Amino acid sequence: MDKLLVHGNSSLRGTVNISGSKNASLPILAATLLTEEPCIIRRVPDVSDTNYMLQILRALGADVERSSGTVRVEAKEISPEAPYDLVRRMRASICVMGPLLARLGKATVSLPGGCVIGDRPVDLHLKGLAGLGADIDVEGGNILIEAKDGLHGNEIDMRGKHGPTVLGTDNLMMAAVLAEGRTVIESAASEPEVLDLANFLIKMGAKIEGAGTRRITIDGVPKLGGAEHTVIPDRIEAGTFMVAAAMVGEGVTVNRVCQDHLEATTRCLESAGHGVQFNEGGDAVTVTRGDAPQGCEISTAPYPGFATDMQAQFTAMFATTPGISVVEDTIFTQRFMHCAELKRMGADIKVDGGRAVIRGVETLSAAPVMASDLRASAALVLAAMGAKGTTEINRLYHIDRGYEHIDEKLLQLGATMERARD
Ligand code: EPZ
Repeated sequence: MDKLLVHGNSSLRGTVNISGSKNASLPILAATLLTEEPCIIRRVPDVSDTNYMLQILRALGADVERSSGTVRVEAKEISPEAPYDLVRRMRASICVMGPLLARLGKATVSLPGGCVIGDRPVDLHLKGLAGLGADIDVEGGNILIEAKDGLHGNEIDMRGKHGPTVLGTDNLMMAAVLAEGRTVIESAASEPEVLDLANFLIKMGAKIEGAGTRRITIDGVPKLGGAEHTVIPDRIEAGTFMVAAAMVGEGVTVNRVCQDHLEATTRCLESAGHGVQFNEGGDAVTVTRGDAPQGCEISTAPYPGFATDMQAQFTAMFATTPGISVVEDTIFTQRFMHCAELKRMGADIKVDGGRAVIRGVETLSAAPVMASDLRASAALVLAAMGAKGTTEINRLYHIDRGYEHIDEKLLQLGATMERARD
């Protein structure tokens, strides 16, 4: 089991290149199942989540080749059964359900397990696909879904009690592109990764309007063809490095970003007193630590609001920001596992009912800590770089799920850390 030994009192300077988006790659790779023709996807990050997805595509019968960031998928003959032992490891595998149903008229996908950030229901996914005429059974931990009379367009409101669903919107869109007639998705997720998937589907021949807004209209077509696509930059990786620069940076430039996707992160860094300067093209950003940082309030919301995937990283920053900060997660109200670990390092945080109240302390001190989920692990790395002493971060596999070579990138910026085996 890998762990990371992070030596404190780091200071970062220089430039770092952001990888392609994990959360755009996963549904786009699933969408290659919609055609028997080959698809080429570029800038797919080499992280365990995307590698799981490639294994699932292979297990379904697709021919998959990867050379560095470029993946070629040819799903000529595929099976409707996603393998339990792979699907159970990654919740996002649920997004093969829509394409399998659309291509084959049926699918068997295991119910995703929950995870530390909370119960991960799929009721909205099933509501959406049932809305297109699919029959659904849940048996032995598997979702058995079938459209005996084909899929038919419909108006479907996908709003849940915590707002829109990203992968639920993706699944419905990927089923609707081959359905008979028009589908209108109300209360759709508008994340950039949903728009990126729609752009890929349109290149394959799909007819989609309004992706990136709350209302998406899809006119079904009989068949889709192969396409080539380069996934968008990873806005959460970019935000993570921007927070690192605000915490322990002496002038860090983050390259290969998309300014439009980073508005909420930028606003919060500036209200905390840090400097954020994008270049003319909006594809690079320099973050400088403020002279008088101050605590502030954050409440997560669906895009374009403040991303739930960024709240742990900001909590790590607020742990040593003078004053009181409040972080509320309205999307995953239990997503505070990182707070207990930060408290082991000396942070002053009180968590109750979906909110963390953080009182900034002078500095944190090293302690053995446990990574629990992808973004919590990143928060611990950020905190450890600014702490006194050497912090041991265990269960490093969490961070390798979604950050491509994060330790190498931080080392290039001047951090000092090394991997070790248990
Ligand atoms: C996507 O997960 C992201 N994952 C998550 O990023 C991200 O945190 C999340 O969207 C919210 O932005 C990928 O894109 C692979 P949701 P997803 O369905 O689609 C509830 C990371 O760190 N809900 O938008 O699974 C759900 O419980 C990961 O990269 C239902 O109630 O999340 C949550 O409260 C973590 N019923 C809210 O909706 C459903 O059927 C939003 O979840 C589906 C979701």
